[in-house]
Amino acid sequence: MFETLKALNPDPILGLLAAYRQDTNARKVDLGVGVYKDEAGHTPILECVKQADLAHRAEETTKTYVGPAGDADFDAGIEALIFGADHSARRDQRLRTLQAPGGCGALRIAAELLNRAKAGAAIWVSDPTWANHVPLLGDAGLEIKIYPYYDGASQSLKADAMFAALEQIPAGDLVLLHGCCHNPCGVDLAPADWDRVAEIAIRRGFTPFVDLAYLGLGVGLDEDAYGVRKLASAVPELLVASSCSKNFGVYRERVGALSLLCATPSQADVVFGQAQNVARGVYSMPPNYGAALVGRILRDPVATKAWEAELGTMRDRINGLRTQLSDKFRQRLNSNRFDFIPAQRGMFSFLGLSKEQVQRLKAEYSIYMVDSSRINVAGVSQSNMDYVVDAVCAVL
Ligand code: LMR
Repeated sequence: MFETLKALNPDPILGLLAAYRQDTNARKVDLGVGVYKDEAGHTPILECVKQADLAHRAEETTKTYVGPAGDADFDAGIEALIFGADHSARRDQRLRTLQAPGGCGALRIAAELLNRAKAGAAIWVSDPTWANHVPLLGDAGLEIKIYPYYDGASQSLKADAMFAALEQIPAGDLVLLHGCCHNPCGVDLAPADWDRVAEIAIRRGFTPFVDLAYLGLGVGLDEDAYGVRKLASAVPELLVASSCSKNFGVYRERVGALSLLCATPSQADVVFGQAQNVARGVYSMPPNYGAALVGRILRDPVATKAWEAELGTMRDRINGLRTQLSDKFRQRLNSNRFDFIPAQRGMFSFLGLSKEQVQRLKAEYSIYMVDSSRINVAGVSQSNMDYVVDAVCAVL
C-alpha cells in the first residue's frame, strides 16, 4: 500500500539541519533552525536544568504513568509563569493547563479540540507565520485563513491592514497570534496593539489563540507575557500553546503546554476533560522527564532565579547581536538598509533577500537560512559576523 505515497522534499526548516551537518566547509554558518547558540556555536544545557536533572534522578522513585494532563507541578508552574500567579483568570478558576509534547503537541491538541468543538472552524494566521502552523492546525481539520501582518518594505507591522482585517473576522472564528518574538519576522505587537486586539476580539466575538514559544527571549518575562495576560483578563475564551524548548533549552525533551481559558469554571472542567481525551487518543500521555525538570525549577524560587539569569544571558546575547549586526551592515554598505534588525525581537528576522540570493549564500558561502531569508540571529557570533555580513553584501 505504501506505493501510493510520494517522496517529499525536506522540511523547509528542519531540512536545513541535515544539509548543514553534511557541509564540509570549515566556515559554514547555521542561521537556520531556531535554536539558541552560544558564542562557540553550541546549544548548551542550562546549568539550572543540569541541577534539576541531578535532583530528579536522586529523588525519582517510580516510572509509573502520569496521565494525559502530564506533570501537575509543571502544569501549575508553567501556568503561573505565563499568566502571573495572581491572574484573575486563575483566581476565578477559569483556566486549565495540560502538559503537551512540545509547543507543536500543544498546537495539535488545541486544533483537534477546536475541531471537536466546531468542525472545520476557521483559524486566521498572520502573513507570514511559522511554516509548521499550517499542517499542525490545518491537518486537524481547521480552515486556515490569513490576515496581514508584516510589511516587507518597512520591515514593520502592517498595523492598519491588520486591524482592518481583524475588524472583519466573524464571531466563532479563531485568530492565532504570536505572543512574542514573532516567528519568522521578529516584529511584535506593542502593548497598545494587544489592547486593541483584545477590544476587537470582545466586540467581534472571535477567539484568540496565542502561540507562546519564546517567552522571555524578547524583552523580559513579564513584558513578553503582556499580550497573553491582557487577553486572559479581557476575553471569555482563550487558548495558549506554550513551549519550553527555547527558554529552558530542552528542545529534544519535548516540553510544552496548552492552557485553556473558559467562560466558567464548570466549562473549563469540561474542556479540560476533552483536551485530555484528545491527548489520550493521540499519544496517551506526554513524556515526563523534561517537564519534571522544568516543574522542579519553577517550584523552587532559588532555581527559578537561576533560570531567569540564564534566560537573561541568552536574551541579552541575541539583542546584542542584533545591534552589532546592524552596525556592521551600516558600516559596510553605508546605508540604513539593515537598521531594522535591533528593533525586532527574539531569534528571527528577515534579511529581505530573494530566494536566489539565499541559495547563493548556501552554495557559495555555506551560510544556511530559510528560503524566505529568515535568519536565526543566535547563529551569528563574533567569529563569523564579518564573514556573514561580507557574504550578504556580496550577494545583494
Ligand atoms: C524554527 O522555527 O526554526 C523552530 O521553531 C524549530 C522548528 O521546529 O521549526
